[in-house]
Amino acid sequence: MYCVKKIKEDLFWVGGTDRRLALFENAYPIPRGISYNAYVLTDEKTVLFDTVDRAVTDQFFENVEAVLGGRPLDYVVVNHMEPDHCATLGEIVRRYPEAQVVCNAKTIPIIKQFYNFDIDSRAIVVKEKETLSTGKHTLTFMMAPMVHWPEVMVTYDMTDKILFSADAFGTFGAMNGNLFADEVNFERDWLDDARRYYTNIVGKYGPSVQTLLKKASALEISMVCPLHGPVWRENIEWYVDKYKTWSSYQPEEKAVMIVYGSIYGNTENAANILACKLADRGVKNIAVYDVSGTHPSTMISEAFRCSNLVFASATYNGGIFSSMEHLLTDMKAHNLQNRTVALLENGSWGVLAGKLMKEIILGMKNMNILEQTVTVKSSLKESQMAELDALADAIAESMK
Ligand SMILES: Cc1cc2nc3c(=O)[nH]c(=O)nc-3n(C[C@H](O)[C@H](O)[C@H](O)COP(=O)(O)O)c2cc1C
Ligand SMILES: [Fe+2]
Ligand SMILES: [Fe+2]
Repeated sequence: MYCVKKIKEDLFWVGGTDRRLALFENAYPIPRGISYNAYVLTDEKTVLFDTVDRAVTDQFFENVEAVLGGRPLDYVVVNHMEPDHCATLGEIVRRYPEAQVVCNAKTIPIIKQFYNFDIDSRAIVVKEKETLSTGKHTLTFMMAPMVHWPEVMVTYDMTDKILFSADAFGTFGAMNGNLFADEVNFERDWLDDARRYYTNIVGKYGPSVQTLLKKASALEISMVCPLHGPVWRENIEWYVDKYKTWSSYQPEEKAVMIVYGSIYGNTENAANILACKLADRGVKNIAVYDVSGTHPSTMISEAFRCSNLVFASATYNGGIFSSMEHLLTDMKAHNLQNRTVALLENGSWGVLAGKLMKEIILGMKNMNILEQTVTVKSSLKESQMAELDALADAIAESMK
């Protein structure tokens, strides 16, 4: 049975939600599920904005059929060719053979790579700011290359001032009946997942996101319809501000994340003591993570949120404790910049973790590594409390 949501008189959400998938892109845990959004506009011409992941195929086709009510489908706009939005494009083309595919030039070869249907005969290839009239509505298109695939574009309904933003402004989390962000407590219940989605999936491409934000700032926007998560019609500027912060690699908050990699618990002990010492100095909302037990996507997201990062690691086979090394490499790959970093190392015979962590972090842009590194040899000694105090002082000072 169909499950559609009316957005406007002639605009409907026809997507689906998946709460079964454990790992989005086979990489990111999604305990709250995920939604794949698609939208149908029932103007003089009918338009489908993107399709959905294979997982919600049945729901999607029932939804599209219900909204079309027997009318033909005239256009499918392909804003993004990643399979979570185009896995059902082939089936759409089979079921609606008269539908024309609206996309940009970079999309065509990718469609050909994924599919065998004849795209050339049915494509309407659009360029930057070109328009397409569907009757009452006029659509225009803006290219958003590398947000986060090369062919990405966004579509703007000039009539109703609605931005179909592709993956931008998307989030992990299945929709729970409420379609609009103003119907949920987004900041409390969704922001962490939105940040984890953005930073892990798009985070590497900050400059491309900035370019898109600049283009979008020239538009009057009454609603943002992303490909995942709630639709925005109120307080859009608040969410745009988050994107401005994340994409410019500025910390969202003056806050500390401490991540430790510990085999027997001594590095963990030092990390806990440091956290207490920071709290004694008035630092609030300190976040401590065990790198072995926390998914990297959570710590990537937290690194984008926090101004100060502490990495505490045991030495492991002449290297950094492996899960810590993986995290640091991942942070570098995600282009993380502009953070103040403190290091704590541990080892029993040849302590190398600090030096090696520093090498990775120095490969990232504009990272301020505090000079007060603490070295633990097997276990923390009373005589080292002063060193931890000095480190806590330096961190607290850098946050002023
Ligand atoms: C597989 C393995 C490899 C290790 N390699 C090194 C090493 O190369 N250099 C070193 O100084 N200590 C090495 N250690 C020892 C730990 O780094 C050291 O005992 C440290 O104090 C452990 O801290 P923790 O109590 O936080 O786990 C290794 C330990 C293990 C289990
Ligand atoms: Fe995507
Ligand atoms: Fe997506």
